Amino acid sequence: MVGSALLHPFTAPTETEFIKVVGGRGSTIVDDKGNEYIDAMASLWYMNVGHGRQEMIDAIVNQATKLAGYHTFAPFSNEPAERLADKIAELSPFSRPRVFFGSSGSEAIDSVMKIARIAQREAGHPERQLIISREHGYHGTNFGGTSAQGIAINQEGFGPLVGDVVQASASNVESIAHVFEQNPGRVAAVLTEPLQGAGGVFPPPDGYLEALRQLCDASGAYLIFDEVICGFGRMGKWFGAQYYGVTPDLITFAKAVTSGYLPLGGVIVGDAPRAALEANEGFNFKHGYTYSGHPLATAAGLEAIAIQDREGLLARAAEIGERFAPALSSFASDGLVVEARGAVAVWGIELESAERALTVRARMLDAGVIIRPMGSSLAICPPLVITDTEIDRVVDSLAVALA
Ligand SMILES: Cc1ncc(COP(=O)(O)O)c(C=O)c1O
Repeated sequence: MVGSALLHPFTAPTETEFIKVVGGRGSTIVDDKGNEYIDAMASLWYMNVGHGRQEMIDAIVNQATKLAGYHTFAPFSNEPAERLADKIAELSPFSRPRVFFGSSGSEAIDSVMKIARIAQREAGHPERQLIISREHGYHGTNFGGTSAQGIAINQEGFGPLVGDVVQASASNVESIAHVFEQNPGRVAAVLTEPLQGAGGVFPPPDGYLEALRQLCDASGAYLIFDEVICGFGRMGKWFGAQYYGVTPDLITFAKAVTSGYLPLGGVIVGDAPRAALEANEGFNFKHGYTYSGHPLATAAGLEAIAIQDREGLLARAAEIGERFAPALSSFASDGLVVEARGAVAVWGIELESAERALTVRARMLDAGVIIRPMGSSLAICPPLVITDTEIDRVVDSLAVALA
């Protein structure tokens, strides 16, 4: 055995070198040797309210002293789960949605794929099974998300994936239209991130999301936005749907809903699928998790949303983008990077190769700044509490690392 017994995600099992994180405050984390790093990735795209928030700890502890855990299978319910569902419904782009909870983005994706298919069946269309997703899409690593993601290397070696899930080109909507044409009346849903994150930070081409909406409307398929990264403030709005002005039928969320203080994810079920699920009194929704609506996780969600609200962090997301955008674009015009892409508080830079991305990432770590390699690109997705001085340090370190 090498090092600890811990088997790390997305890591060679023979890897022995790790940075042991022991603490964090605001946008900074510290390791067991006392080194400090600016966390310009908000951990893994989620730490919007920043590390070490006493209000978050208090909210979790307060709830734990009342009820630390109980399930929400009928006939049971609990107050923080209901309050958070109502709060998320209010912030969502839907008029009267329902909110389903799991514990992660991957569970949210499995859930939304199942909800889309069963809602189509309840609406009288059991033949609508096909789910279309896009190249570069990342939808987590459960079997649903592994089947739906558009990063082929993540699908290799895991045996047969979920059937009736197909990927289309990320950039041209005709490729999705073609799948509709080849499968008349069979498409349950189109699944896409509003802005693709972990696949390389790709904003949608102009008019692309609108075109998907039209395709889905014309055929009776649902449009699903995977907002695990975009949701809860990253785009300067509560949801990417609101930033891009396109309303889907279903939204998945996770990560920033609690700023990662406790694991939580879920699905917002918009008007059409909600009506289908509620159409038949005899229908029982046979899906859910032991920790669906967990009182500690949902109490953490209520506080994380309250902090973002109180501190104007959605507006701050836009300012963060305004500070990063010109600096990263100048790297592109100076030829230091191939391309800079992104929107609001999530950015990516494309380099010549994956090796170069790893080198630049290592130099950044040495300089005390964390960014994330994704193939030949690097992602920047800081806490929304990052200061201007910290942003400038990220940009200055990047300039040195790229030179
Ligand atoms: C868009 C998107 N969907 C789903 C997931 C999976 O989330 P989790 O890792 O919490 O299972 C991620 C994770 O990065 C994501 O970015």
